[in-house]
Formats: sequence, C-alpha cells, structure tokens
Amino acid sequence: MSSQEHILETSLANSQKQVEQLSQEVLELYRQVNLLYRLGDVFSAGLQTEDVCGVLMIESTKVVRARSAFVRLSDGRTFGRLSTNPASKMSVGIETPMGRIGDITLFDKKRGFFTAADEKLIRAVARQAGVALENSRRIEGLIEQNEALETLNDELRALDQMKSDFVGNVSHELRTPLASIKGFAATMLADQDMPREVANEFVGIINDESDKLIAIINDLLDVSKMMSGHMDYRLARQSLTAILQQVTALLKIQAEGKNIVLGLDIESEMDVRIDPTRMHQVFINLIGNAIKFTDAGSVKIRQWTDTDGLHVSIQDTGIGIPADLLPNIFDKFYRVENIVHTKEGTGLGLALVRGIVDYHGGTVDVESIHGVGTTFTVNLPPARAIDHDSSIDIDSNTARSE
Ligand SMILES: Nc1ncnc2c1ncn2[C@@H]1O[C@H](COP(=O)(O)OP(=O)(O)OP(=O)(O)O)[C@@H](O)[C@H]1O
Ligand SMILES: [Mg+2]
Repeated sequence: MSSQEHILETSLANSQKQVEQLSQEVLELYRQVNLLYRLGDVFSAGLQTEDVCGVLMIESTKVVRARSAFVRLSDGRTFGRLSTNPASKMSVGIETPMGRIGDITLFDKKRGFFTAADEKLIRAVARQAGVALENSRRIEGLIEQNEALETLNDELRALDQMKSDFVGNVSHELRTPLASIKGFAATMLADQDMPREVANEFVGIINDESDKLIAIINDLLDVSKMMSGHMDYRLARQSLTAILQQVTALLKIQAEGKNIVLGLDIESEMDVRIDPTRMHQVFINLIGNAIKFTDAGSVKIRQWTDTDGLHVSIQDTGIGIPADLLPNIFDKFYRVENIVHTKEGTGLGLALVRGIVDYHGGTVDVESIHGVGTTFTVNLPPARAIDHDSSIDIDSNTARSE
C-alpha cells in the first residue's frame, strides 16, 4: 500500500468514527427530544400533583441514568426518597412562569457523574413538570370549589325544602283557626234569630280561635325579630316563682282537660335578672309542650337553686323524643315527624325558648326516653353574676331599660 493510500485509509477511518459519534449524539438528542414531546403529552392530560411528580421522577432517573429521585414542593409535600450518602447527586429547581415551586434531586448516576448536559435536560423536563403542576393545582382548586359548591347547593336545597314545609305547615296552622272563625261567623250571620246562649258560645269560639291566630303570628314575628337581632328585652331583678305560678295556673285547665296531673314544686328561690314577659313565654312554651305531647300521666315542674344559679325542670310522662332527633328540636320549624299530623304547632316554640334563655346567659337541657317521657331543664345564672351596678340597665343596643 502506498503512503498516499495509507493516509486516505486513516482519514476514512477517522471520518467513519466521527460519523459514528455524530450519529450517537443525534440518536441521544432524538431520545431527549422524544422524551420531552412524550412528557408534553403526558403532562397535558390534566394529571394530579402526585402523578405529575411520579412521572417527573421516573422519567428523570431514566433519562440521566440515576438510581433514585426526590421531589420537594414549596407547599411542603415531598415525593420519592432522599438518598443518604449518595455517590453523586444533582438538584434542579422546578420553575414556572410565576417562580420556583419546588425542586427535584437525582442521586447516584449509574456510571460517572452528572454532567452539565444532564442538568440542562432535567431543567427542561422540570420546566414541563412545573407547568403541569400549576395546572393540577388549578384543577385541584376547581375540584375543591366544585365540592364546596355542591355542599352549598345541598344545604340550599335542604333550606328550600324546609321553607316549603314551613309554608305548608304555617298555612295549615293559620287556616285551621281562620276556617273555624269564618264558619262560626257565617252561621251567625245566616241565622239572625240564633238564641243568645248559642250566639255567646259561638263568639267564645271565635275569640279563642282568634287568640290562636294571634299567638302563631306573634311567634313568627318574634322569631324573625330574634333572627335579625332586634328582639326587645326589659331586664329586671326578680324571682321566677310568680311567673311559674301564673303559667301553671293558665295551663291548668288544658292539663285537666286531658286528665294530666300538673304539679309545681318550689324547693327554693333566688333572684335572677330576667325579662319577665319573655320568661313567661319560655315557660308557656315548655309547659305547653309537656302537656301537648303527653296523653296520660303527669307534668311536674320543679324549681331549685344551687351555687350555679336557678334551675327549673319540666318533666312529663309523654311520648318522648327519639335520641337521634334530640339535637334538632331547637331548630326553627323543626317538628318530630310522628307528631306532625296529630299535634298542632309550627315548630317555633323551642327555637324561641333557646334564643331567650341564651340571651339571659342561661342554658336549656333536655333528656328524653322515647315512649317514656321528657325532661327539659332551664338553668339561669344568679342575678349577681351578670348584674353589674344597676338592676335594670341593659347591655343590648336594641333593648330598652325599665
Ligand atoms: N315535651 C315534649 N315531649 C315530646 N316531644 C317534644 C316535647 N317538646 C318538644 N317536642 C318535640 O320537639 C318539636 C319542637 O318543639 P316546638 O315547641 O319548637 O314546636 P311545636 O310545639 O311543635 O310547635 P309550636 O311550639 O310552634 O307551637 C315538637 O314538634 C315535638 O316533636
Ligand atoms: Mg311548642
């Protein structure tokens, strides 16, 4: 072989080597571009945060031939495992147009050390992951918002149902006395020669039914005042005994009509700071309920005092309230299902009771055994505990003093 031929052969061999190396690099570049394209597709599929981080770790370790990866997000969440004493490691930030939102660390390159080219590549991958993480954060936010909206929607639906039930119930409660008033008035008008005793009886009924109407309308007005924080209170320092005696006397006829023994036991007494009219309303409701929901037996009212203050319990031997429904009975318009069609009422009484007693700094407890009976207890603090220097000043800006 001539020397010229030899030179030609060597340079051919060199060129071949260069071509091989170039094609290796082109192949590697192709692999990287391909990876970035593929990741673009995967990340644009709307993955959740943990899936994005999972893909980021798997693909990053693969592409730079690392043994493991660890992702830490700025919200504190971490994925993968930290390697202790790694032979080599490389950290790259996960960037978004809004800034850095975390970083990925790769550990233990299988051969040699991580290179600048590795870092450049992982930076490109992490940037894609950053966009995907931003999207997943938005999607997760939307999902949360959607769930909150659904809950709100359910609540609104329940409220709407309650409103419809209420409208139905209140209309019924208003219509019954009104129909009766209308009926008796019409009969009297049609029969001008009605004997006086009969006419008196009819007028008596009209009067009673009108009282019922007024009571319902007053309850409605009170509840709406209470809800808007405009209930008036005239506080005075006094004992509760006289109020309990009045209410018991008022409801005695009603109890006797149902053959129920109504008893009042004043064990001891103490001054409390109360609005007497509102307290009257509280016990009319509680004792009225006890009589209404008792078909036989007794309603016992007991008043006693201790260092906590004044306590009044109203114990009946009535139908009772199922334990799981007890938490609902103080809600406005709530009535236990089984009595809805048999006992009159709008479900406002206990809501008013609780609101009024709350205002006085007291509490209302209830214990009940379904089918056996119920005991309501009103607890009021002693007058001293909430009384500052005057017995009739009032702290509410909507209340008036006496
Ligand atoms: N002493 C009781 N025994 C059994 N159930 C009771 C008793 N007191 C209240 N409840 C139950 O709690 C519900 C709510 O009572 P609440 O006084 O608010 O309404 P109501 O008496 O039905 O109607 P309103 O008081 O507006 O006339 C009642 O409908 C009833 O189901
Ligand atoms: Mg009631």
